[in-house]
Amino acid sequence: MKKNLIKKYNSKVKLYNYYNKKYFNDNNSEISDAEYDILKKEILDLEKDYNFLKNINSPSKKVGFKPSKNFKKVNHKVPMLSLANAFSEQDLLNFEKKIINFLSEKKNFVITYSAEPKIDGISASLIYKKGNFEMGLSRGDGKQGEDITENLKTIGDIPKKIEFEDFPNEIDIRGEVFIQNSDFENLKNKFANPRNAASGSLRQKNPNDTKNIPLKFIAYTFGFEKNLMVTTQTEYLKKLSKWGFKTNPLNKQITGVKNLLKNYNEVEKKRASLDFDIDGIVYKINNFSLQKRLGNVANAPRWAVAHKFSSNKAISVIIDIEIQIGRTGALTPVAKIKPINIGGVIVSNATLHNEDEIERKDIRIGDTVTVERAGDVIPHILSVDVSKRSNESLKFKFPSKCPSCGSKTIKEFNKVTKKIDAVRRCSSNGYFCNKIAIEKLKHFVSKEAFNIDGFGKKIVELFWKLKLIKFPQDIFKLDYDKIEKLEGWGKLSVENLKYSINQKKNISLDRFIFALGIRHIGLENAKLLSKYFTSYLNFQSLYKKKNYEDLLNIDGIGETQVSSIRDFFLNKENLKVLNDLGKVLFIKNVTNKRNEGLLNNKSFLVTGKLTGISRAEVKSLIEENSGSSVSSVTNKLNYLIVGEKPTKRKVEKAEELKIKILNQDEFLKMLNKTG
Ligand code: IVH
Repeated sequence: MKKNLIKKYNSKVKLYNYYNKKYFNDNNSEISDAEYDILKKEILDLEKDYNFLKNINSPSKKVGFKPSKNFKKVNHKVPMLSLANAFSEQDLLNFEKKIINFLSEKKNFVITYSAEPKIDGISASLIYKKGNFEMGLSRGDGKQGEDITENLKTIGDIPKKIEFEDFPNEIDIRGEVFIQNSDFENLKNKFANPRNAASGSLRQKNPNDTKNIPLKFIAYTFGFEKNLMVTTQTEYLKKLSKWGFKTNPLNKQITGVKNLLKNYNEVEKKRASLDFDIDGIVYKINNFSLQKRLGNVANAPRWAVAHKFSSNKAISVIIDIEIQIGRTGALTPVAKIKPINIGGVIVSNATLHNEDEIERKDIRIGDTVTVERAGDVIPHILSVDVSKRSNESLKFKFPSKCPSCGSKTIKEFNKVTKKIDAVRRCSSNGYFCNKIAIEKLKHFVSKEAFNIDGFGKKIVELFWKLKLIKFPQDIFKLDYDKIEKLEGWGKLSVENLKYSINQKKNISLDRFIFALGIRHIGLENAKLLSKYFTSYLNFQSLYKKKNYEDLLNIDGIGETQVSSIRDFFLNKENLKVLNDLGKVLFIKNVTNKRNEGLLNNKSFLVTGKLTGISRAEVKSLIEENSGSSVSSVTNKLNYLIVGEKPTKRKVEKAEELKIKILNQDEFLKMLNKTG
């Protein structure tokens, strides 16, 4: 037990140190900030629970990483500390409670905070003597930083000389160096994100290289000071502005945890529209004498905390690009990425949408990419960091042959949009391609189709692998003896499966047509077709047809659908499926509703605004009563319903064609309803 714990703890610390080195020294974060925070928290939690674990490499003992060898090292007179993180309301309540306990104040002690959006950049310490900017240091490991004075001098936001009487004789002003998102646009192909760009440019050996990069500086705290005559953080921030430093325009003075949360939510909403990246809000006890009393724990002050935003982006590497094949033959590229935590979820796949998307973003295997996960949507690749690409990297070649069946892959011309599809497809038909066949089966048993209880995607995969099914009709001729002998199956589960399959042998024509998975025939179109054909036999005899043009008469069915139906019936395998299913199923005829409704055989069109009833409701009233609604005035139209401000042309044309014109009341009377 103890041995395992130590092993687990050490491996986490090792990983933590590795990422630290990458982050602070190589300007290269391999993991997202959120993932880094989680790793750190895991280590600290282990230490809290098992005191014996703490070692010299623990993050509780360290800030950052030892500075790199390129710059002169200088000790910070006052260490540059790190901040504890808070992720929830509870964390904040605990933070406040600890402070109140520490100060041994009463529960209702009111604390005022300075709430400062936490810019995600690189911290720097600026040492001023007699108003002159003398030396600038990076944070380094918190105790010892690097002398980056010359580079910092190139930043316009950093005052080089300050001539105010109240400016302390000696002070170490601290703040954040960063790049605005709008400026980062031009550096996109060199760095993965603004933070890397800031860190990379700040640590250029030649200050002239730094000069060309639009770095910004925002001040927020201080190290050592002589004669700083202020008593609160808010006052200090005001002084900073007066002395010529930029401060964060979103800084606020706030009292109580409730209001901190309110502000947090407001700032988080603004986050995406800000021109600089923030990853949370820093809360500092406003009163300096309280800060002094509270002091520090290990490497972080007791009087401050960083309330982090949950992140939904992370950087990872594409290990491979896999091609998935859908029911309609569409080839969907999927990036297999190095598993990464994005906002608490481990992500290892990201969709690449289609061939065009890969081409547009020039996404390649081995690329370092930013992955975004929003809500329940499949994670996707936001951008590629081209600077991290190796010289051997090759453009991704989309397969010209289907990876499953070897058929040619094609991009079709879309007759409606008059454009070539973005999607490439397997050109095979029917059930020839195994991957397509499996997807067709999954569709066949899906909720809106046969909806067979206990027969989901996993079962389809399993039965396919065991060669129990290949075509839909096989589902109704399963070898139950074989299934009963499978691991995890028994008499009862087989009985249940048999029962649910038999139950679904009775099916409506529309569901049946939908289940066949004819391309472009979704639920709505399947309903239209079932109404038109009314029986399985009528539908099935479509194969005898030479000409499918008359299907265009079905309101809602267009050329795309007709050509897809034709393709379906031209395939012998499909015809066999259709035939075999016809033999085992009981496909209900569509009951003829003719002569039932009040608006039977009558067609309607609405123009102008009606009162108290929506167009959609009128349409559904017409259909409920066996009428039909059409979209233009032709001699096929029986009634034009005219509301307020009708289209003049429609009314004129209706009059010309001697079509009956109704107002809203007259129409409702036809339905025995009064307006
Ligand atoms: S105060 C002693 N104030 O956050 C407290 N830090 O994780 C530490 N940061 O190294 C500094 N905005 O890079 C402070 N308004 C702010 C800040 C801020 C961003 C960064 C800074 C620091 C890190 C701590």
